[in-house]
Amino acid sequence: MKPIARMVVLAIAPLLMAALWMDKQPSYKPYQVPVLAPPVDAVPVTGRELLTQGSELKNPVSPSPAALERGKALFATNCAMCHGITSAERGPVGKKLKPPPPGLDHDLLQNRSDAHIYKAISLGFGRMPLFKAKLTQQERWELVNFLRTRK
Ligand code: HEC
Repeated sequence: MKPIARMVVLAIAPLLMAALWMDKQPSYKPYQVPVLAPPVDAVPVTGRELLTQGSELKNPVSPSPAALERGKALFATNCAMCHGITSAERGPVGKKLKPPPPGLDHDLLQNRSDAHIYKAISLGFGRMPLFKAKLTQQERWELVNFLRTRK
C-alpha cells in the first residue's frame, strides 16, 4: 500500500467505527421519545374548546365552479373515508368509529360559520385529525365552500 493510501485508511477508520457504535450512545433508547420543547407557534390542540362560532376569520375564496370541483376532489381524498362521499352514509373508516363522525349534511353545516369549519379542518376537532400541515389554506377554504353545497 502506498503511504498516502495508508494515511487515508487510517484517517477514515475512526469514522467507520463511530458509525458502528452510533446506536450505543447514551442519548435515547430505541423507541424512546426525545423530550423536545414545543415549537414557538404551538397551540393546545385538544379540539373543541378552541373553536368559536362567528370568529374573525373571513373566507377569502369565492366558490367558483372550478374551486368547488377542487373542493369536491379534496373531500373525496381527505375526508370521505370518515364522513362519507354523501352525507347519507359514512365512509369505511367512519363506520368503524363509535360514535361515527357526523355526515356533514346541510342541517349540521348551516349552524356552523365558515371560520368554524375552517378551524375544525385546520386544528382538528375532537377525534378528527388536523389538516393544517397537509392542506394549504386555499385548499381548506375550498373544502369549506364545497361542504356548503352538500345536501
Ligand atoms: C379519521 C376520521 C376523520 C377524517 C379523515 C375527517 N374527519 Fe371530520 N370529523 C371526524 C369526527 C369523528 C368528527 C366529530 C368529532 C368527534 O366526535 O370527536 C368530525 C367532525 C367534523 C366537523 C364538524 C365540526 C362541528 O362543528 O360539528 C367538520 C366540519 C369536519 N369534521 C370536516 C372534515 C373535513 C372537511 C375533513 C377532510 C379534510 C374531515 N373532517 C376529515 C372524523 C374525521
